[in-house]
Amino acid sequence: MAESRMNPVSGGSHEHEIAIESLLDERRHFPPPPAFAAHATLNDPAIFARAAADPVAFWEEQARELDWFEPWHTALEWDLPFAKWFVGGKLNVSYNCLDRHVLAGRGDKIAYHWEGEPGDTKTITYAQLLDEVQRCANALKALGVGKGDRVAIYMPMVPELPVAMLACTRIGAPHTVVFGGFSAESLSDRINDSQAKLVITADGGWRRGKVSPLKPNVDDAVKMSPSVEKVLVVRRTEQDVAWDASRDVWWHDIVPQQAADAAPEPMDSEDMLYLLYTSGTTAKPKGILHTTGGYLTGVAATHRWVFDIKPEDVYWAAADIGWVTGHSYIVYGPLTNGTTSVLYEGTPDFPDAKRWWSIVERYKVTILYAAPTAIRAHMKWGRAHAQHHDLSSLRLLGSVGEPINPEAWMWYHEVIGGGRCPVVDTWWQTETGGIMISPLPGITTTKPGSATQPVPGIFADIVDDKGESVPLGEGGYLVITKPWPHMLRGIYGDPQRYKDTYWSRFPGKYFPGDGCHRDEEGYYWLMGRVDDVMNVSGHRLSTTEIESALVDDHRVAEAAVVGTPDSLTGEAIVAFVIVKGSTTITPELGEELRAHVAHKIGAIARPKQVMFTPDLPKTRSGKIMRRLLRDIAAGRPLGDTTTLADATVVETIRDASANAKDDD
Ligand code: WTA
Repeated sequence: MAESRMNPVSGGSHEHEIAIESLLDERRHFPPPPAFAAHATLNDPAIFARAAADPVAFWEEQARELDWFEPWHTALEWDLPFAKWFVGGKLNVSYNCLDRHVLAGRGDKIAYHWEGEPGDTKTITYAQLLDEVQRCANALKALGVGKGDRVAIYMPMVPELPVAMLACTRIGAPHTVVFGGFSAESLSDRINDSQAKLVITADGGWRRGKVSPLKPNVDDAVKMSPSVEKVLVVRRTEQDVAWDASRDVWWHDIVPQQAADAAPEPMDSEDMLYLLYTSGTTAKPKGILHTTGGYLTGVAATHRWVFDIKPEDVYWAAADIGWVTGHSYIVYGPLTNGTTSVLYEGTPDFPDAKRWWSIVERYKVTILYAAPTAIRAHMKWGRAHAQHHDLSSLRLLGSVGEPINPEAWMWYHEVIGGGRCPVVDTWWQTETGGIMISPLPGITTTKPGSATQPVPGIFADIVDDKGESVPLGEGGYLVITKPWPHMLRGIYGDPQRYKDTYWSRFPGKYFPGDGCHRDEEGYYWLMGRVDDVMNVSGHRLSTTEIESALVDDHRVAEAAVVGTPDSLTGEAIVAFVIVKGSTTITPELGEELRAHVAHKIGAIARPKQVMFTPDLPKTRSGKIMRRLLRDIAAGRPLGDTTTLADATVVETIRDASANAKDDD
């Protein structure tokens, strides 16, 4: 029982697994602390029944929390699998994030406490943010960007990043933010798929005390991306950069000079708000398409409920805006709710492992939202760093991006939360737009390692291979059974792939690609991906994408990539490589291939280990048996091998892997 609930990515060592098992055996429950529940925004469980009685009316109620220029005439048009929410309604995202707070007299409220990695800081009020966004909106127009044009954003975590996103929404230009850790080639792929006209970037960002250059990658990307007309560059790290005067424009030469007055474009509820690329099961990333009214409704509501947002909170989502967590819960959700947030540029261990805790203390952070990988890193660095600082301002802790093992959950709860803060483990995806399964901190009794239950208005189930709902106490595939306002509207330019990926496995139901166990009390225990997608440090990476980067090297004949449990990063990437005949296998070759992947995709995709092998295990139909490779990579006893074309291959690979050593 405990075994079946054990999180498959919770750790490599046997000892570690035993620790988790014993925790599960204790069946710990954490009801909301009474004082927390008494003041919580939501503390009446009746909200679940109310949402279930009429989900569409319930979401309409949430949509009314926004400011609309024109009301919708139809709440939901559901032509499975294509949804339209709040049809006919008109609104503007930047208006909802900024103007309405300023108009209500809250212009002096702090929107962001920004802190750069070197220690420079900036306090930005709602009024100042509105001012800057309007100037930037005018600059975008001056650079030839109009309603409907796509803008690619490739930036460090500086205030100009949310400014750029909001400026795009102000004029109705969809953005596609590309995480700054991606390579020139990955950036170019995304620019080409979205046909972006403008790229907004910076000279570089600060990472562990060093400049992480961005502009050179943009220069390389743009050579392969003819749609780009202009590049707008923020000066951040101040190193010399190559300059093409016919194309490149410094932010400081154009934005401050503009009028701080740009009327918000009334957008249709179903107009595209942004594209965000994410890894799927093929080498080509998917452009996940989000629209305006439903998305904003969903992220604002879930942000209010799950984080119990109060006007006086100081909220910190320690994520990067380049991922969906940053879009929904650093920018759009918090700003729509008029929240004060912390925005931090750098890594958690610069200049030392106290950095996060010093930020919590200095800004008196009340709500912290972080990834399990970061929590496990802090565990490894030791509790002394946290204990060095006053963390008593914290009242709520959140987790996102990957399953959180009970051990990390308990550490977070006790060491960071002092045993007094509820922990909300939030399950969701780029595609879902916002939080889907999570405790409501004033209502839900939590269990370490479980994301608990779908939030009000979201309907999930666990099904078997045939799509039949499984009884409580069993596991299977997670599905979402009703449309929701912040769901993706498609994969950009590829409606067939949208249908095939999410809606064909279990007809009529949305299939996120996650395995899940549901206990006797109906609690959801997420078990990781069931497809060829890995989750490394909370980042989604496609095995196929890394395989194609490997075979791109002329010495590689074939490659298979799998994720293996890693006690720090959740999963680690292991590549099995067959080299071409004449190639000599050396440790340097492994090193070069790892570097090649990092160069092609980005450092986050660098395999932890490369194993050279003379062959790969395949089914009779020629499909690589990743499950078997996962077992080999993790050093586990092998499961059923009867579908193998050549059973001796396993032994050969095993021998090869016994001789391979972790070259990290
Ligand atoms: C995984 C990140 C378990 C899951 C917001 C999902 C989680 C993928 C959790 C989406 C969680 C995210 N517990 N697994 N609380 N949150 N995941 O698109 O496999 O970067 O499908 O969105 O991360 O990753 P994405």
